[in-house]
Parts: sequence; structure tokens; C-alpha cells
Amino acid sequence: MLADDIDRVMRIERVIYEHPWTHGNFRDSLHAGYSCWTMECGGDTTGYGVLMIGVDEAHLLNLSVARAWQRRGLGRYLLHHFVAIARSSDSHCVLLEVRPTNVAARALYAQAGFRELYVRNGYYPAAHGREDAILMGLDL
Ligand SMILES: CC(C)(COP(=O)(O)OP(=O)(O)OC[C@H]1O[C@@H](n2cnc3c(N)ncnc32)[C@H](O)[C@@H]1OP(=O)(O)O)[C@@H](O)C(=O)NCCC(=O)NCCS
Repeated sequence: MLADDIDRVMRIERVIYEHPWTHGNFRDSLHAGYSCWTMECGGDTTGYGVLMIGVDEAHLLNLSVARAWQRRGLGRYLLHHFVAIARSSDSHCVLLEVRPTNVAARALYAQAGFRELYVRNGYYPAAHGREDAILMGLDL
């Protein structure tokens, strides 16, 4: 992902999330040196994600597939791409948060071998108040 990609990414982000990241969140991720990727097909941005690589662990902060491209295996492909990056960076595990109501993402992560570790209470903004997050982890 380059700075010039962020407008295209934001057009997808606003459609697929009730509480989307901002343009600034992506810009800050690029400036911080996080591993930020977009996926493209025929000039169309089909998906993207952001991985923060720490000392021992990598944290997947964003994983997204454009609505029109969902359910074609691209989410799994992108997730494996980030796990491969984490592995090559000597991280011991990949962590991520997911909303309990996000059935699709939870199934994707479980299929890839992620385990549910614990619940972070009131982690996410929600339509009425806050929603918990499930912390998931994959040992590498
Ligand atoms: C979650 C997301 C990334 C999945 O991407 P995708 O390209 O649609 O998923 P894939 O086609 O690669 O599917 C891989 C697996 O995910 C699960 N899955 C994907 N969509 C699903 C759905 N709508 N319902 C149930 N399971 C689903 C299935 O286990 C699927 O395996 P299968 O096809 O063998 O059944 C995508 O739905 C998305 O971007 N959602 C909005 C943003 C989001 O919630 N991101 C995750 C934040 S934690």
C-alpha cells in the first residue's frame, strides 16, 4: 500500500465496516512502517490489510476484502500472505481482535488455525455503546 492508494482503500473501508478506519489511520500505519498491503485485480483494488510487527509477535490490525470480491478465497489468500510475513520476521505468533458478531471473519481465522484466547470487554465502538472483542492468536 502506498499513500496514493488510501483514497481507493477508504472507498472500500466505508462500505464494509460500520465503524471504518479513517484516512489518517492508514496514513499513520504507513508512516509507522507497518506492513501495509493492497491486493489488485485488473486495476481494481480487491482487498488490503495492515500488519504491525513487534519484537516477538505480529498483530494483524486490518484485513479487508471489497464487498464485490468477497467469498472467492481472497480473504484466505491475504491472511496467508500476512502469516507468511510474520513468520519471516521471526515473530512467535500472530494476534488479532475480532467482533463476536463477525461470523465470516471468525470462521476464516479458525479455518487458518487461529485460536480464541480471551475477550477484551467493550473494545469496539458499536451502534449502541461498545462491543467486546475476541483476541485470537496463531502460534508460528
Ligand atoms: C472476513 C473477510 C476478510 C473474508 O474474506 P473473503 O474473501 O470473503 O473470504 P474467503 O472467500 O477467503 O473465505 C475463507 C473462509 O472464511 C469464511 N467465510 C468467509 N465469508 C463467510 C461468510 N459470509 N459466512 C461464513 N463464513 C465465511 C469461511 O470459513 C470461508 O471458507 P469456505 O469458503 O471454505 O467456507 C471479508 O468478509 C471482509 O472483508 N469482511 C469485512 C471486513 C472484516 O470484517 N474484516 C475482518 C475484521 S476482523
